[in-house]
Parts: sequence; C-alpha cells; structure tokens
Amino acid sequence: MRYNAGQAQTYWWQQGVIYQIYPRSFKDSNGDGIGDLPGIIAKLDYHTWLGVDAIWLSPVYPSPMVDFGYDVSNYTDIDPIFGDLAAFDTLVAQAHQHDLKVIMDYVPNHTSDRHPWFIASRSSRHNPKRDWYIWADPRPDGSPPNNWLASWGGSAWEWDAATQQYYLHSYHKAMPDLNWRNQDVKEAMFDVVRFWLDRGVDGLRIDSAQRIIKDPQLRDNPPNPDPNVTAYKPLGDYNSQLHLYDKGHPDIHAVYRELRQLLDIYSTSSPRVTLGEMHIYDWPQWARYYGAQLDELHMPLNFGLVSVPWNAGAVRHLVDSVEAALPPGAWPNYVLGNHDEPRVATRIGQEQARVGMMLLLTLRGTPTLYYGDEIGMHNVDIPPQSIQDPSEKNLPGIGPGRDPERAPMQWDDSPHAGFCPSAVEPWLPIAPDYTQVNVAAQRADRHSMLSLARALLQIRRTTPALAVGSYTPIDGAPADCFVYVRRFENQRRLIALNLSDDEQQLQLPAMGSARILISTHLDREGPVDLASLHLRSDEGCIIEVAE
Ligand code: NOJ
Ligand code: CA
Repeated sequence: MRYNAGQAQTYWWQQGVIYQIYPRSFKDSNGDGIGDLPGIIAKLDYHTWLGVDAIWLSPVYPSPMVDFGYDVSNYTDIDPIFGDLAAFDTLVAQAHQHDLKVIMDYVPNHTSDRHPWFIASRSSRHNPKRDWYIWADPRPDGSPPNNWLASWGGSAWEWDAATQQYYLHSYHKAMPDLNWRNQDVKEAMFDVVRFWLDRGVDGLRIDSAQRIIKDPQLRDNPPNPDPNVTAYKPLGDYNSQLHLYDKGHPDIHAVYRELRQLLDIYSTSSPRVTLGEMHIYDWPQWARYYGAQLDELHMPLNFGLVSVPWNAGAVRHLVDSVEAALPPGAWPNYVLGNHDEPRVATRIGQEQARVGMMLLLTLRGTPTLYYGDEIGMHNVDIPPQSIQDPSEKNLPGIGPGRDPERAPMQWDDSPHAGFCPSAVEPWLPIAPDYTQVNVAAQRADRHSMLSLARALLQIRRTTPALAVGSYTPIDGAPADCFVYVRRFENQRRLIALNLSDDEQQLQLPAMGSARILISTHLDREGPVDLASLHLRSDEGCIIEVAE
C-alpha cells in the first residue's frame, strides 16, 4: 500500500512500523541459551501476524561481546553465536518473502580492540593503520591529552605503554574510536555499507551517530553548569561536562551527506533508510541531521518519549516541539523503548503502557517498537552474579544497568518461556511472570496488551490518516489528556489519550458524527458524542470523525 502525503510519495520507512530485535534475547534455536539468526527466522511469521513492517537487528557481527556486539571485530561477517552469512542471507530472503524489511545495526564510531584494524594500529606508531584510530600524546605530566570522559566512567583515553600514546574510547576501553577524518577509514566503512546493502538489507541504524567526528584540536570540554537539566540520564561523571568537543563537530554533516549519496544510489532499486542514534533533545539541533536539503540522515532517531515526564502537557510539548523543528518535508519518528532504556511498562506502569502504545502508533512519523513491549514486558531484576552489561559493571548502581530490559522474549509458559530449551540457562534471567505474560497466552486473550498492539498496528496500516496524515493538536482538553487529529485528505481520526488514572470528561469541538474505533481497554466501539467524551482511567481512544 502506498499513499501520497501532499505532493511527495511516501516510502515504506515512512508508512511502516519498525520492530527492534535484540538478537541475543529473541529466540535461541540451538540450545546455548543465546538467541540467534535461525531463531529470528523461525519467528518471522510472528512479525507478519503482529503487523510490523521492518525488523531492526542489534549487532550480529563477530565480536568479543564486551558490549554484546557493539564491539565489532569484523564488519563483514556474522558471529558464530548468531549463525553465519548463509543464515543471514536466508533471513533477508525470508523476511522479504514475508514483506518485512531488514535494518542492520551499523557501528561506525568504534571497533573492538580485537579488530585487525586496531591490532595493526596499536602495533607501532608507523603502522599504516596508526591514524585509523585517534591517538594522542600525553600532557607533559603524563596525564591524558584532554579532559574527555568515557560514557561508562573514567577518562576516554587509554594509555598504550608499548607505543607511548593514548587512544580514545568514547565508551569502553575495549572499544577504541575510529578516526573518521582519515579518508581511508571513511572509504573502508563505506565499503562496509556497500557490503550489507549488496546483500539486500533495507536500511542501517547508525550507532552513536553523533559521535563519529570530534574536535580536531581535541579541546577540553567545558564543565556542565547544570547536569540535572542537560543530561538525559544518569551517567555519573560523564554528565559533569558539556560535550561540546568530543562529538558532533560540524564536519560530521559532510560525512552524512556523502553517506546519503551512497544510500541514494542503492535506493534507485529499492528505497533504503538510515536511522541515526542521536541523544540530542534540543530539537532544532537534532533536526540538523536531516540535512539542510534533506540530504543527510533519513531520520535521526528521536528518543524524546523515552525520557519525557509522563504527563499530557509534557508529552504534547515534546511532540509539538519536534513537529515545529522539522525542516519542510522531513519525516518524524518516535522511539518508546530500546535496549538501552528501562522498559516502558516499568517507566510508566502497565496501564499507561497501553496508552503509550496507542500514542506511539498514532503519532505522525515512523514508530520503533522494542521487542517484548507488545506484551508489556517489564524490567527484570538481575541478581548481582548475573550482571552482564559492561556499563553496569563500570558504573555500578548509578543507573539501573541495561540487562533488565534485555531479558529473553517470553513466548509461552513452557520452561524458559519458550526462549531456549529447559536444560540450558538463558544468558539473562527470564521474567518471573512469564507464565502469564507471554505471546501464546496473550494471543488467546482478546483484551491483552498483545491484542491491543496488533489491533493498533492493523488500524494504522489500513488508515492513511494514521500512516501518513497530518498532525494537529487539539486545545482545551483536561490537563491530563492529550488530544490530536490525524488527517489525510478527507479522512480524520481523533486520538484522545488519558495519561492519568483519574476519569476524565472531555468537551471536544464539534466535528460532526463520531465513532470510537478502539479503546485501549479493548471493550468499546461505536458512536460517541464529542461534546461529552468520557475517558476512564488510563484510557485512550481512536475516534473516527465524519469525513
Ligand atoms: C549505543 C547502543 O545503543 C548501546 O547499546 C551501545 O552500548 C553504545 N551505543 C556503544 O556502541
Ligand atoms: Ca543460540
């Protein structure tokens, strides 16, 4: 299905819904307690049944797994834990047969310290690959070249005794940053893009996209006068600085323009997409990554919903700010959960998670749905001896760590939730409530979170107003309600969300006859009087208004 929004044609990545898979945690096919590619292939029918359009896989490259795949030691292969290139090709082919696109995680900012490029680079100052990473001399007192900090604690510089210089790592010391100012690095990394696009992938999610170009003079970051205001989540000392110089240098835009040209060449056969991971919450600043001529990233990812205070005023303000910041023609997107953030059901509660799902799937722009959120999975308590996440190991107790949101998918009520055989230990503990909270049980329950997610996906798919229509917020609703209209040509849908657990009475402007299509409670449909719309606690409704 393809609708026209205004003049321009819209592409699958605009109309579609992206489903993020954390491969280690989705489905184990070979009984080692870790999810893998054949496991994902076995579940493709689930994605089509659910009604999503694309799957994005967190990294499956060969990796020492210090950061579970975000430390890549070979960009053009698959880690044996997950399968091999043949399995990947099968996945792409079968996904396409299922009418599903495949988005690959692309990790340009850093490699593993086991990557042959880094092994060569650190072998000697004269190695041709020395400049592929960011090396610098110590200050006269032997201390690191500047004050930059790693996201997961401590200096971002690691001393290399053998060659008497420091190398830069924005995250873990086992993940050295590549030097994208070196043209050979850029070419090699563009070759990686070609490799996967040639294999048929439909898009790239670009990891740490804002970090790849730093200040060439390596200037010190200034102190952060107000960490509570400017930091998006607790990261310890890292938040004591304003990160002016260690990422997002203006030269980055030229790199993304070049990358876009590469994508555009491939897109003549079938449209490909780039999604950039950007932790920028100043929306005009964030929007610059679309490019002045919409010639950079198709979509810088928008994490606003992950950290916004969950109340109607703040959520509306966020959406309106994002809409206002978009350059003409730029396509918005929303993320409600991912592998780095506490589960939405934990952040805002099970009841509001249903409202959140309706919000995510009715806003203008591409939604990204994190695996398991469709069944309301929540953070899983991880006993200390089971902690896996390197950020939690480096910064114990500062944040919740990221293991709780990476627990295995709950498929059914068999041992280990159908994720892996009963005789093996899954790599992370299974949520204790899996016997109730699982796909099989929720498929059979017409009021479940899964039934809601599926129904919303179906409505979105068959309703151009929701898939590609305009967005207009409605004023005058009670303070706890967020109300907006999506419109395409003459088709209008009113979305009324109660972000509280109080009942609400709404007097909405007359829009002609109105009919509830779906409530988050999945228990009512039919005509409604907009002059006195009653919303129960934690209820959202999609309402058809006369054409
Ligand atoms: C962002 C990824 O989403 C996160 O999981 C990872 O640890 C860092 N980038 C480093 O690659
Ligand atoms: Ca496995």
